[in-house]
Amino acid sequence: MFKEKSVIASELYKNIGSVVIPKEKLQDKVRFLGEQISHDFKNEDVVLISNLKGSFRFLSDLSASLNIPTQVDFISFTSYHGGTESTGEMRIIKDLKMPIENKNVIVVEDIVDTGYTIDFILKYFQDFRAPKSVKICTLLDKKEKRKIDVPVDYVGFVVPDLFLIGYGLDYKEYFRELNYIAEYNI
Ligand code: PRP
Repeated sequence: MFKEKSVIASELYKNIGSVVIPKEKLQDKVRFLGEQISHDFKNEDVVLISNLKGSFRFLSDLSASLNIPTQVDFISFTSYHGGTESTGEMRIIKDLKMPIENKNVIVVEDIVDTGYTIDFILKYFQDFRAPKSVKICTLLDKKEKRKIDVPVDYVGFVVPDLFLIGYGLDYKEYFRELNYIAEYNI
């Protein structure tokens, strides 16, 4: 059974396409975003909220690049997908563990695509959690796919409409471990 599964996985790895963002560029950008956020929140403290699973790599590196006091929490708010497209119908898999009332919150995402997920998170926090402020920080912004207008405060890279994998982003739950972002040939 296990053998059969690993054969299928190795087939998937043959379809990795060109590198879109190499490791070094990711590292530089994360450092830059860390400096920007540290500057903007000088003398304040923030709660970094990572929306699982795609943002776990970015959250880890971004948090290490900050020089302000931070706390970290995780949510898993996700939308149903019709094929590879988000339908906008949201579900909460995992909610916050810690209270964020009167706190500065930065929601950390790997990618903003249609905008449905961020829109839902923002409304949910505003309606039920009363934070002091909420900012959005995304590594990737697939702007041309936006279906709903959402404020994105910190953006690593604006990317074209390609199927992207790596550094947290998956195809069939694989490829999150890659240290670079690549195109995937489905
Ligand atoms: C991805 C990504 C964002 C969302 C963005 O999550 O991590 O949360 O889609 O898409 P949107 O702007 O169209 O809403 P996904 O649901 O694929 O789950 P994952 O992070 O666990 O891979």
